[in-house]
Amino acid sequence: MTAEQQANVSTTSADAEPLTFPAGFRWGTATAAYQVEGAVAEDGRRPSIWDTFAHTPGKITGADTGDVACDHYRRFSDDVRLMAELGLNSYRFSVSWPRVQPDGAGAANQAGLDFYRRLVDELLENEIEPWPTLYHWDLPQPLEDAGGWPDRETAERFADYAALVQQALGDRVPRWTTLNEPWCSAFLGYGSGEHAPGRRDGRSAVQAAHHLMLGHGMAAQALRAADPAADVGITLNLYAIAAAGPHPEDADAARRIDGLANRIFLDPILRGEYPADVVEDLRDLTGFEHVHDGDLAATATPLTYMGVNYYSRYVVAAPRPASTAVSPDGDGRRLDGEHAAASSFQLAWPGSEHVRFVDAEGPVTAMGWEVHPEGLAETLLRVHREYTPLPLYVMENGAAFPDVVDGDGSIDDTDRIGYLDGHLAACRSAIQAGVPLRGYFAWSLLDNFEWAHGYSKRFGLVHVDFATQRRTPKASARWYADVIRRNGLPG
Ligand code: NOJ
Repeated sequence: MTAEQQANVSTTSADAEPLTFPAGFRWGTATAAYQVEGAVAEDGRRPSIWDTFAHTPGKITGADTGDVACDHYRRFSDDVRLMAELGLNSYRFSVSWPRVQPDGAGAANQAGLDFYRRLVDELLENEIEPWPTLYHWDLPQPLEDAGGWPDRETAERFADYAALVQQALGDRVPRWTTLNEPWCSAFLGYGSGEHAPGRRDGRSAVQAAHHLMLGHGMAAQALRAADPAADVGITLNLYAIAAAGPHPEDADAARRIDGLANRIFLDPILRGEYPADVVEDLRDLTGFEHVHDGDLAATATPLTYMGVNYYSRYVVAAPRPASTAVSPDGDGRRLDGEHAAASSFQLAWPGSEHVRFVDAEGPVTAMGWEVHPEGLAETLLRVHREYTPLPLYVMENGAAFPDVVDGDGSIDDTDRIGYLDGHLAACRSAIQAGVPLRGYFAWSLLDNFEWAHGYSKRFGLVHVDFATQRRTPKASARWYADVIRRNGLPG
Protein backbone atom coordinates (compact mmCIF):
# COMPACT_ATOMS: atom_id res chain seq x y z
CA MET A 1 0.00 0.00 0.00
CA THR A 2 1.14 3.52 -0.66
CA ALA A 3 1.37 5.97 2.24
CA GLU A 4 -1.66 7.76 0.85
CA GLN A 5 -3.73 4.56 0.81
CA GLN A 6 -2.53 3.73 4.28
CA ALA A 7 -3.65 7.11 5.51
CA ASN A 8 -7.13 6.29 4.27
CA VAL A 9 -7.32 3.11 6.26
CA SER A 10 -8.30 3.17 9.86
CA THR A 11 -8.98 0.00 11.76
CA THR A 12 -10.29 1.23 15.02
CA SER A 13 -13.90 1.97 15.66
CA ALA A 14 -12.98 4.79 18.01
CA ASP A 15 -13.22 7.39 15.22
CA ALA A 16 -15.51 10.33 15.83
CA GLU A 17 -17.65 9.50 12.79
CA PRO A 18 -20.10 6.66 13.48
CA LEU A 19 -18.97 3.63 11.54
CA THR A 20 -22.12 2.82 9.65
CA PHE A 21 -22.28 0.54 6.64
CA PRO A 22 -24.07 1.11 3.31
CA ALA A 23 -27.78 0.38 3.11
CA GLY A 24 -28.48 -3.19 2.06
CA PHE A 25 -25.19 -4.48 3.49
CA ARG A 26 -25.29 -8.26 3.86
CA TRP A 27 -24.60 -9.44 7.41
CA GLY A 28 -24.02 -13.13 7.79
CA THR A 29 -22.23 -16.00 9.37
CA ALA A 30 -20.61 -18.90 7.57
CA THR A 31 -20.28 -22.64 8.12
CA ALA A 32 -19.26 -25.66 6.02
CA ALA A 33 -20.97 -29.01 5.63
CA TYR A 34 -18.34 -31.37 7.03
CA GLN A 35 -17.61 -29.00 9.90
CA VAL A 36 -21.18 -28.83 11.21
CA GLU A 37 -23.58 -31.36 9.70
CA GLY A 38 -22.56 -34.75 11.11
CA ALA A 39 -24.97 -37.49 9.92
CA VAL A 40 -22.25 -38.80 7.65
CA ALA A 41 -23.98 -42.04 6.77
CA GLU A 42 -27.53 -40.69 6.79
CA ASP A 43 -29.97 -40.79 3.88
CA GLY A 44 -27.53 -42.12 1.33
CA ARG A 45 -24.49 -39.93 2.02
CA ARG A 46 -21.22 -41.71 1.35
CA PRO A 47 -17.64 -40.87 2.36
CA SER A 48 -15.69 -37.87 1.24
CA ILE A 49 -11.93 -37.48 1.48
CA TRP A 50 -12.46 -35.83 4.86
CA ASP A 51 -14.28 -38.87 6.27
CA THR A 52 -11.40 -41.06 5.16
CA PHE A 53 -8.73 -38.65 6.41
CA ALA A 54 -10.36 -37.99 9.78
CA HIS A 55 -10.64 -41.73 10.38
CA THR A 56 -6.94 -42.23 9.62
CA PRO A 57 -5.04 -42.43 12.92
CA GLY A 58 -2.76 -39.49 13.63
CA LYS A 59 -4.27 -36.99 11.24
CA ILE A 60 -6.60 -35.04 13.55
CA THR A 61 -6.00 -33.65 17.03
CA GLY A 62 -7.71 -35.87 19.59
CA ALA A 63 -8.68 -38.34 16.83
CA ASP A 64 -11.77 -36.19 16.32
CA THR A 65 -13.99 -36.71 13.27
CA GLY A 66 -16.94 -34.94 11.66
CA ASP A 67 -19.21 -37.95 12.27
CA VAL A 68 -21.47 -35.97 14.58
CA ALA A 69 -19.98 -32.44 14.56
CA CYS A 70 -22.75 -29.97 15.53
CA ASP A 71 -25.48 -32.38 14.45
CA HIS A 72 -26.68 -29.55 12.24
CA TYR A 73 -28.25 -32.05 9.80
CA ARG A 74 -30.89 -32.75 12.44
CA ARG A 75 -30.87 -29.44 14.30
CA PHE A 76 -30.87 -27.05 11.36
CA SER A 77 -34.28 -25.58 12.24
CA ASP A 78 -33.05 -24.63 15.71
CA ASP A 79 -29.90 -23.19 14.19
CA VAL A 80 -31.87 -21.09 11.71
CA ARG A 81 -33.97 -19.82 14.61
CA LEU A 82 -30.76 -18.81 16.35
CA MET A 83 -29.65 -16.93 13.23
CA ALA A 84 -32.99 -15.14 13.09
CA GLU A 85 -32.63 -14.15 16.74
CA LEU A 86 -29.24 -12.66 15.97
CA GLY A 87 -30.81 -10.67 13.12
CA LEU A 88 -28.64 -12.15 10.35
CA ASN A 89 -29.89 -11.34 6.86
CA SER A 90 -27.60 -13.88 5.13
CA TYR A 91 -26.20 -17.34 5.81
CA ARG A 92 -23.29 -18.94 4.01
CA PHE A 93 -23.25 -22.74 4.12
CA SER A 94 -21.78 -25.41 1.90
CA VAL A 95 -23.47 -28.21 0.03
CA SER A 96 -21.93 -31.59 0.74
CA TRP A 97 -21.07 -33.16 -2.61
CA PRO A 98 -21.05 -36.74 -1.19
CA ARG A 99 -24.50 -36.12 0.27
CA VAL A 100 -26.11 -35.03 -2.98
CA GLN A 101 -24.06 -37.09 -5.47
CA PRO A 102 -22.45 -39.82 -3.39
CA ASP A 103 -20.28 -41.31 -6.13
CA GLY A 104 -19.16 -37.92 -7.43
CA ALA A 105 -20.71 -38.75 -10.79
CA GLY A 106 -24.02 -39.89 -12.17
CA ALA A 107 -27.29 -39.91 -10.33
CA ALA A 108 -28.25 -37.44 -7.66
CA ASN A 109 -29.25 -38.57 -4.18
CA GLN A 110 -32.69 -37.01 -3.80
CA ALA A 111 -32.72 -37.37 -0.01
CA GLY A 112 -29.52 -35.35 0.17
CA LEU A 113 -30.88 -32.62 -2.09
CA ASP A 114 -34.07 -32.53 -0.02
CA PHE A 115 -32.06 -31.62 3.06
CA TYR A 116 -30.76 -28.49 1.35
CA ARG A 117 -34.23 -27.61 0.05
CA ARG A 118 -35.54 -27.80 3.60
CA LEU A 119 -32.64 -25.70 4.88
CA VAL A 120 -33.13 -23.09 2.15
CA ASP A 121 -36.88 -22.94 2.77
CA GLU A 122 -36.36 -22.48 6.47
CA LEU A 123 -33.89 -19.66 5.80
CA LEU A 124 -36.22 -17.92 3.37
CA GLU A 125 -39.11 -18.18 5.81
CA ASN A 126 -36.92 -16.33 8.29
CA GLU A 127 -35.89 -13.73 5.70
CA ILE A 128 -32.31 -14.95 5.68
CA GLU A 129 -30.69 -15.09 2.29
CA PRO A 130 -29.08 -18.47 1.50
CA TRP A 131 -25.51 -18.31 0.13
CA PRO A 132 -24.50 -21.85 -0.76
CA THR A 133 -20.89 -22.75 -1.51
CA LEU A 134 -20.63 -25.75 -3.80
CA TYR A 135 -17.26 -27.02 -2.63
CA HIS A 136 -15.87 -26.65 0.84
CA TRP A 137 -13.26 -29.43 0.65
CA ASP A 138 -15.36 -32.61 0.85
CA LEU A 139 -14.50 -34.37 -2.42
CA PRO A 140 -16.39 -37.67 -2.83
CA GLN A 141 -13.89 -40.43 -2.08
CA PRO A 142 -14.46 -42.23 -5.43
CA LEU A 143 -13.20 -39.13 -7.24
CA GLU A 144 -10.02 -39.09 -5.16
CA ASP A 145 -9.60 -42.79 -5.91
CA ALA A 146 -9.79 -41.90 -9.59
CA GLY A 147 -7.03 -39.29 -9.25
CA GLY A 148 -8.55 -36.40 -7.32
CA TRP A 149 -7.97 -32.72 -8.14
CA PRO A 150 -4.57 -33.31 -9.80
CA ASP A 151 -6.62 -35.10 -12.46
CA ARG A 152 -8.37 -33.01 -15.11
CA GLU A 153 -11.52 -35.16 -15.03
CA THR A 154 -12.34 -33.90 -11.55
CA ALA A 155 -12.97 -30.42 -12.97
CA GLU A 156 -15.57 -31.87 -15.31
CA ARG A 157 -17.22 -33.86 -12.54
CA PHE A 158 -17.44 -30.65 -10.48
CA ALA A 159 -19.21 -28.79 -13.29
CA ASP A 160 -21.74 -31.64 -13.61
CA TYR A 161 -22.33 -31.58 -9.87
CA ALA A 162 -22.82 -27.79 -9.93
CA ALA A 163 -25.48 -28.18 -12.62
CA LEU A 164 -27.21 -30.88 -10.58
CA VAL A 165 -27.39 -28.70 -7.45
CA GLN A 166 -28.56 -25.73 -9.51
CA GLN A 167 -31.37 -27.81 -10.93
CA ALA A 168 -32.52 -28.76 -7.45
CA LEU A 169 -32.17 -25.40 -5.70
CA GLY A 170 -32.05 -22.82 -8.48
CA ASP A 171 -35.75 -22.00 -8.16
CA ARG A 172 -35.01 -20.52 -4.73
CA VAL A 173 -31.28 -19.75 -4.75
CA PRO A 174 -29.95 -17.02 -7.05
CA ARG A 175 -26.40 -16.71 -5.61
CA TRP A 176 -23.64 -19.27 -5.70
CA THR A 177 -20.08 -19.56 -4.53
CA THR A 178 -18.22 -22.21 -6.51
CA LEU A 179 -15.15 -22.95 -4.38
CA ASN A 180 -14.01 -22.12 -0.89
CA GLU A 181 -10.28 -21.47 -0.46
CA PRO A 182 -8.85 -23.54 -3.31
CA TRP A 183 -5.34 -22.79 -1.92
CA CYS A 184 -6.13 -25.07 1.02
CA SER A 185 -7.61 -27.81 -1.17
CA ALA A 186 -4.53 -27.79 -3.39
CA PHE A 187 -1.58 -26.97 -1.17
CA LEU A 188 -2.65 -28.40 2.19
CA GLY A 189 -4.48 -31.35 0.57
CA TYR A 190 -1.85 -32.37 -2.01
CA GLY A 191 1.29 -30.43 -0.97
CA SER A 192 1.81 -30.57 2.78
CA GLY A 193 -0.69 -33.34 3.43
CA GLU A 194 -2.06 -31.59 6.52
CA HIS A 195 -5.53 -31.73 5.02
CA ALA A 196 -7.39 -34.45 3.17
CA PRO A 197 -6.52 -36.37 1.11
CA GLY A 198 -3.12 -36.03 2.77
CA ARG A 199 -0.86 -36.34 -0.25
CA ARG A 200 2.58 -34.72 -0.24
CA ASP A 201 3.66 -33.85 -3.73
CA GLY A 202 4.29 -30.29 -4.88
CA ARG A 203 3.65 -31.01 -8.54
CA SER A 204 0.28 -32.58 -7.76
CA ALA A 205 -0.59 -29.54 -5.64
CA VAL A 206 0.08 -27.15 -8.53
CA GLN A 207 -1.96 -29.36 -10.86
CA ALA A 208 -4.76 -29.50 -8.30
CA ALA A 209 -4.78 -25.70 -8.07
CA HIS A 210 -5.25 -25.48 -11.83
CA HIS A 211 -8.01 -28.08 -12.01
CA LEU A 212 -9.84 -26.45 -9.11
CA MET A 213 -9.84 -23.17 -11.03
CA LEU A 214 -10.84 -24.94 -14.23
CA GLY A 215 -13.68 -26.65 -12.37
CA HIS A 216 -14.70 -23.30 -10.95
CA GLY A 217 -14.86 -21.76 -14.43
CA MET A 218 -16.77 -24.68 -15.89
CA ALA A 219 -19.19 -24.68 -12.95
CA ALA A 220 -19.74 -20.92 -13.34
CA GLN A 221 -20.64 -21.53 -16.98
CA ALA A 222 -22.99 -24.36 -16.07
CA LEU A 223 -24.75 -22.21 -13.45
CA ARG A 224 -25.14 -19.37 -15.95
CA ALA A 225 -26.37 -21.70 -18.67
CA ALA A 226 -29.17 -22.80 -16.34
CA ASP A 227 -29.91 -19.31 -15.02
CA PRO A 228 -28.43 -16.39 -16.94
CA ALA A 229 -29.28 -14.08 -14.04
CA ALA A 230 -27.44 -16.17 -11.44
CA ASP A 231 -24.94 -14.42 -9.21
CA VAL A 232 -21.73 -16.42 -9.31
CA GLY A 233 -18.47 -15.95 -7.44
CA ILE A 234 -15.62 -17.75 -5.74
CA THR A 235 -13.97 -17.14 -2.40
CA LEU A 236 -10.19 -17.12 -1.95
CA ASN A 237 -8.17 -17.10 1.24
CA LEU A 238 -6.06 -14.02 0.66
CA TYR A 239 -3.25 -12.75 2.86
CA ALA A 240 -1.50 -9.50 3.44
CA ILE A 241 2.18 -10.26 2.97
CA ALA A 242 4.98 -8.20 4.48
CA ALA A 243 8.73 -8.41 4.11
CA ALA A 244 10.36 -8.74 7.51
CA GLY A 245 13.14 -6.33 6.74
CA PRO A 246 14.42 -3.83 4.20
CA HIS A 247 16.72 -6.24 2.35
CA PRO A 248 15.95 -7.03 -1.30
CA GLU A 249 16.09 -10.74 -0.37
CA ASP A 250 13.23 -10.21 2.09
CA ALA A 251 11.26 -8.37 -0.57
CA ASP A 252 11.85 -11.29 -2.92
CA ALA A 253 10.61 -13.73 -0.27
CA ALA A 254 7.46 -11.60 0.05
CA ARG A 255 7.03 -11.63 -3.72
CA ARG A 256 7.31 -15.44 -3.79
CA ILE A 257 4.80 -16.02 -1.01
CA ASP A 258 2.40 -13.45 -2.45
CA GLY A 259 2.71 -15.35 -5.73
CA LEU A 260 2.01 -18.75 -4.18
CA ALA A 261 -0.72 -17.65 -1.77
CA ASN A 262 -2.56 -14.93 -3.67
CA ARG A 263 -1.60 -14.29 -7.28
CA ILE A 264 -1.55 -17.95 -8.39
CA PHE A 265 -5.35 -17.79 -7.98
CA LEU A 266 -6.18 -14.12 -8.49
CA ASP A 267 -4.45 -13.87 -11.86
CA PRO A 268 -5.96 -16.90 -13.63
CA ILE A 269 -9.42 -16.11 -12.23
CA LEU A 270 -9.49 -12.36 -12.78
CA ARG A 271 -6.95 -11.85 -15.59
CA GLY A 272 -6.93 -15.16 -17.44
CA GLU A 273 -3.18 -15.71 -17.02
CA TYR A 274 -0.65 -17.18 -14.62
CA PRO A 275 1.83 -14.70 -13.14
CA ALA A 276 5.11 -15.11 -15.04
CA ASP A 277 7.24 -14.98 -11.89
CA VAL A 278 5.23 -17.79 -10.25
CA VAL A 279 5.60 -19.97 -13.35
CA GLU A 280 9.33 -19.26 -13.20
CA ASP A 281 9.53 -20.00 -9.45
CA LEU A 282 7.85 -23.38 -10.05
CA ARG A 283 9.90 -24.27 -13.15
CA ASP A 284 11.83 -27.11 -11.45
CA LEU A 285 8.55 -28.69 -10.43
CA THR A 286 6.39 -28.36 -13.53
CA GLY A 287 6.38 -26.90 -16.98
CA PHE A 288 2.63 -26.31 -16.61
CA GLU A 289 1.91 -28.91 -19.31
CA HIS A 290 -1.36 -29.57 -17.50
CA VAL A 291 -2.63 -26.16 -18.71
CA HIS A 292 -4.42 -26.76 -22.00
CA ASP A 293 -5.40 -24.26 -24.67
CA GLY A 294 -8.55 -22.49 -23.65
CA ASP A 295 -8.21 -23.31 -19.95
CA LEU A 296 -7.37 -19.77 -18.93
CA ALA A 297 -10.39 -18.41 -20.75
CA ALA A 298 -12.44 -20.84 -18.64
CA THR A 299 -10.76 -20.00 -15.33
CA ALA A 300 -11.48 -16.33 -16.07
CA THR A 301 -15.18 -16.86 -16.79
CA PRO A 302 -16.77 -13.52 -15.83
CA LEU A 303 -18.14 -13.44 -12.30
CA THR A 304 -20.65 -11.22 -10.55
CA TYR A 305 -18.72 -10.86 -7.29
CA MET A 306 -15.48 -11.85 -5.59
CA GLY A 307 -15.31 -13.38 -2.13
CA VAL A 308 -12.39 -12.77 0.22
CA ASN A 309 -11.64 -14.88 3.29
CA TYR A 310 -9.21 -13.04 5.53
CA TYR A 311 -7.74 -14.06 8.87
CA SER A 312 -4.14 -12.88 9.15
CA ARG A 313 -0.96 -11.86 7.37
CA TYR A 314 2.38 -13.47 6.69
CA VAL A 315 5.65 -11.80 7.49
CA VAL A 316 8.45 -13.41 5.52
CA ALA A 317 12.17 -13.10 5.15
CA ALA A 318 15.02 -14.59 3.23
CA PRO A 319 16.23 -17.75 4.91
CA ARG A 320 18.94 -17.73 7.50
CA PRO A 321 19.22 -19.93 10.55
CA ALA A 322 15.88 -18.98 11.99
CA SER A 323 14.98 -18.95 15.63
CA THR A 324 11.31 -19.47 14.93
CA ALA A 325 8.89 -19.93 12.08
CA VAL A 326 5.19 -20.61 11.89
CA SER A 327 3.47 -23.34 10.00
CA PRO A 328 2.12 -22.62 6.55
CA ASP A 329 -1.58 -22.46 7.09
CA GLY A 330 -0.68 -20.18 9.96
CA ASP A 331 -2.12 -22.74 12.32
CA GLY A 332 0.17 -21.52 14.99
CA ARG A 333 2.37 -24.47 15.67
CA ARG A 334 5.71 -22.86 16.24
CA LEU A 335 8.50 -24.65 14.47
CA ASP A 336 12.05 -23.97 15.43
CA GLY A 337 14.43 -23.16 12.60
CA GLU A 338 15.97 -26.57 12.57
CA HIS A 339 12.68 -28.35 12.12
CA ALA A 340 11.13 -25.83 9.80
CA ALA A 341 13.24 -26.79 6.80
CA ALA A 342 12.29 -30.44 7.02
CA SER A 343 8.71 -30.01 8.15
CA SER A 344 5.53 -30.50 6.21
CA PHE A 345 5.05 -26.77 6.35
CA GLN A 346 7.63 -26.18 3.69
CA LEU A 347 5.78 -28.62 1.46
CA ALA A 348 2.74 -26.35 1.34
CA TRP A 349 4.84 -23.76 -0.51
CA PRO A 350 6.46 -25.68 -3.34
CA GLY A 351 9.56 -24.06 -4.75
CA SER A 352 9.91 -21.69 -1.84
CA GLU A 353 12.38 -23.51 0.33
CA HIS A 354 14.34 -20.25 0.37
CA VAL A 355 11.71 -18.44 2.39
CA ARG A 356 11.41 -18.03 6.14
CA PHE A 357 8.11 -17.31 7.88
CA VAL A 358 8.68 -14.93 10.79
CA ASP A 359 6.74 -14.96 14.06
CA ALA A 360 4.24 -12.21 14.70
CA GLU A 361 5.29 -9.63 17.25
CA GLY A 362 1.78 -8.53 18.12
CA PRO A 363 -1.22 -10.42 19.52
CA VAL A 364 -2.11 -13.81 18.07
CA THR A 365 -5.25 -15.93 18.19
CA ALA A 366 -5.48 -19.47 19.56
CA MET A 367 -4.36 -20.63 16.10
CA GLY A 368 -1.19 -18.59 16.51
CA TRP A 369 -2.36 -16.28 13.72
CA GLU A 370 -1.32 -12.66 14.07
CA VAL A 371 -4.22 -10.27 14.63
CA HIS A 372 -3.66 -7.75 11.85
CA PRO A 373 -6.87 -6.01 10.76
CA GLU A 374 -5.00 -3.47 8.62
CA GLY A 375 -4.22 -6.38 6.32
CA LEU A 376 -7.91 -6.86 5.57
CA ALA A 377 -8.30 -3.27 4.37
CA GLU A 378 -5.09 -3.61 2.40
CA THR A 379 -6.30 -6.84 0.79
CA LEU A 380 -9.71 -5.44 -0.15
CA LEU A 381 -8.12 -2.32 -1.62
CA ARG A 382 -5.67 -4.43 -3.56
CA VAL A 383 -8.29 -6.72 -5.08
CA HIS A 384 -10.37 -3.70 -6.03
CA ARG A 385 -7.58 -1.54 -7.40
CA GLU A 386 -5.40 -4.15 -9.05
CA TYR A 387 -7.89 -6.77 -10.13
CA THR A 388 -11.57 -6.05 -10.43
CA PRO A 389 -14.33 -3.47 -10.08
CA LEU A 390 -16.73 -6.28 -9.03
CA PRO A 391 -18.61 -6.12 -5.73
CA LEU A 392 -16.58 -7.78 -2.97
CA TYR A 393 -17.76 -9.77 0.02
CA VAL A 394 -15.79 -10.82 3.07
CA MET A 395 -16.98 -14.41 3.05
CA GLU A 396 -15.07 -15.40 6.20
CA ASN A 397 -13.37 -13.57 9.02
CA GLY A 398 -13.13 -14.57 12.64
CA ALA A 399 -10.94 -15.96 15.35
CA ALA A 400 -10.41 -18.91 17.67
CA PHE A 401 -9.71 -18.04 21.28
CA PRO A 402 -9.58 -20.21 24.40
CA ASP A 403 -13.15 -19.45 25.49
CA VAL A 404 -13.99 -19.90 29.14
CA VAL A 405 -17.46 -20.98 30.20
CA ASP A 406 -18.25 -19.06 33.38
CA GLY A 407 -20.04 -20.57 36.37
CA ASP A 408 -23.37 -19.23 35.15
CA GLY A 409 -22.78 -20.79 31.73
CA SER A 410 -21.98 -17.51 29.96
CA ILE A 411 -18.98 -16.97 27.68
CA ASP A 412 -17.51 -13.49 27.82
CA ASP A 413 -15.28 -13.60 24.75
CA THR A 414 -14.03 -10.03 24.72
CA ASP A 415 -10.95 -10.98 22.68
CA ARG A 416 -13.19 -12.22 19.85
CA ILE A 417 -15.24 -9.03 20.03
CA GLY A 418 -12.02 -7.04 19.74
CA TYR A 419 -10.96 -9.07 16.72
CA LEU A 420 -14.30 -8.62 14.94
CA ASP A 421 -14.49 -4.94 15.83
CA GLY A 422 -11.03 -4.26 14.40
CA HIS A 423 -11.74 -6.15 11.19
CA LEU A 424 -15.14 -4.53 10.68
CA ALA A 425 -13.53 -1.13 11.17
CA ALA A 426 -11.06 -2.18 8.47
CA CYS A 427 -13.99 -3.07 6.19
CA ARG A 428 -15.54 0.32 6.84
CA SER A 429 -12.26 2.06 6.01
CA ALA A 430 -11.97 0.11 2.78
CA ILE A 431 -15.51 1.18 1.86
CA GLN A 432 -14.64 4.80 2.59
CA ALA A 433 -11.60 4.43 0.34
CA GLY A 434 -13.90 3.33 -2.50
CA VAL A 435 -14.05 -0.47 -2.25
CA PRO A 436 -17.48 -1.82 -3.27
CA LEU A 437 -17.71 -4.13 -0.25
CA ARG A 438 -21.28 -5.39 -0.01
CA GLY A 439 -21.26 -7.85 2.86
CA TYR A 440 -19.45 -9.57 5.70
CA PHE A 441 -19.77 -13.14 6.99
CA ALA A 442 -18.34 -13.96 10.40
CA TRP A 443 -16.64 -17.34 10.73
CA SER A 444 -18.42 -19.06 12.32
CA LEU A 445 -21.99 -19.33 13.53
CA LEU A 446 -21.09 -22.30 15.74
CA ASP A 447 -17.99 -23.83 17.28
CA ASN A 448 -17.30 -26.70 14.92
CA PHE A 449 -14.87 -29.28 13.51
CA GLU A 450 -11.76 -27.23 12.79
CA TRP A 451 -10.20 -29.65 10.29
CA ALA A 452 -6.82 -31.03 11.47
CA HIS A 453 -7.43 -29.40 14.88
CA GLY A 454 -10.68 -31.24 15.44
CA TYR A 455 -12.82 -29.62 18.14
CA SER A 456 -9.82 -28.14 19.97
CA LYS A 457 -10.22 -24.70 18.36
CA ARG A 458 -13.44 -22.73 18.76
CA PHE A 459 -14.36 -20.09 16.19
CA GLY A 460 -18.10 -19.82 16.94
CA LEU A 461 -20.15 -16.82 17.92
CA VAL A 462 -22.28 -19.49 19.52
CA HIS A 463 -20.69 -21.98 21.91
CA VAL A 464 -21.43 -25.66 21.35
CA ASP A 465 -21.21 -28.17 24.15
CA PHE A 466 -20.33 -31.19 22.02
CA ALA A 467 -21.43 -33.64 24.73
CA THR A 468 -25.00 -32.30 24.84
CA GLN A 469 -25.18 -30.26 21.59
CA ARG A 470 -26.37 -27.36 23.66
CA ARG A 471 -25.90 -23.98 21.93
CA THR A 472 -25.07 -20.88 23.99
CA PRO A 473 -24.60 -17.52 22.28
CA LYS A 474 -21.33 -15.96 23.44
CA ALA A 475 -20.97 -12.26 24.25
CA SER A 476 -19.63 -11.87 20.69
CA ALA A 477 -22.95 -13.12 19.29
CA ARG A 478 -24.84 -10.44 21.18
CA TRP A 479 -22.27 -7.85 20.11
CA TYR A 480 -22.64 -8.92 16.45
CA ALA A 481 -26.43 -8.79 16.72
CA ASP A 482 -26.10 -5.21 17.94
CA VAL A 483 -23.80 -4.32 15.02
CA ILE A 484 -26.36 -5.76 12.59
CA ARG A 485 -29.21 -3.88 14.27
CA ARG A 486 -27.34 -0.57 13.95
CA ASN A 487 -25.88 -1.49 10.53
CA GLY A 488 -22.67 -0.20 12.02
CA LEU A 489 -20.15 -0.39 14.79
CA PRO A 490 -20.86 1.05 18.21
CA GLY A 491 -19.17 4.51 18.09
C1 NOJ B 1 -11.05 -21.21 6.45
C2 NOJ B 1 -11.98 -22.30 6.09
O1 NOJ B 1 -12.76 -21.99 4.99
C3 NOJ B 1 -12.84 -22.78 7.25
O2 NOJ B 1 -13.35 -24.02 6.89
C4 NOJ B 1 -12.01 -22.82 8.51
O3 NOJ B 1 -12.68 -23.41 9.57
C5 NOJ B 1 -11.62 -21.41 8.87
N1 NOJ B 1 -10.84 -20.85 7.78
C6 NOJ B 1 -10.80 -21.29 10.15
O4 NOJ B 1 -9.60 -21.93 9.99
